[in-house]
Amino acid sequence: MELSIDWAYQLLKQEEVPAHIIRHSERVALVSLFLGCSLVKKGNNLDLRVLTLAALLHDVKKFSSLKTGENHALAGYKLMKGLGLERMGEIIYAHIYLKAPKPGSLISEEEIVFYADKRVMHDRIVPLRERFRDLETRYGRTLKAIIRMRLLEEMTLILERRLFKNLDITPESFLKLNDVREVRGVLEKKLEDCSDSWGSFL
Ligand SMILES: [Fe+2]
Repeated sequence: MELSIDWAYQLLKQEEVPAHIIRHSERVALVSLFLGCSLVKKGNNLDLRVLTLAALLHDVKKFSSLKTGENHALAGYKLMKGLGLERMGEIIYAHIYLKAPKPGSLISEEEIVFYADKRVMHDRIVPLRERFRDLETRYGRTLKAIIRMRLLEEMTLILERRLFKNLDITPESFLKLNDVREVRGVLEKKLEDCSDSWGSFL
């Protein structure tokens, strides 16, 4: 099978992923690809295709897991593994269960999708702080839940610093990607060649 943007959309359809989750996932993929491109330009070694498709599919099991009570990150991993795409499954699994990077290690696709997901609230790209305030309002019912979320927020802020350390762009510049209307087309085009400028959006 050819790993294309088309293929990922077909899988989303086949898995009956609702439209609002697709819109969220498209934005996460856009943030992931732009960040991945910027990192590759600075000499990082990343598989941009696997990165973008995993980002598009990171919540492929979110809706169906609500009914089955499954863990959606694990269910996503299993689905991918069953298709012979374990690497993509690992990235999907890590959007919830990210391991701390080893000292001196290179930036991974896992870190990018994890971060991109935390930058997208519903289908809008927002600063990390805003996303975490929203999560806290929605899920922070107990002190334990609030503490867990604050830890996650701190960890994600550290990750943000790590990702942007050697980049010329800032986390704020990503807000301009909200102006992209036809995400699918942009993903296709930029996946072919992302070396040219993103200037029309930024
Ligand atoms: Fe998710």
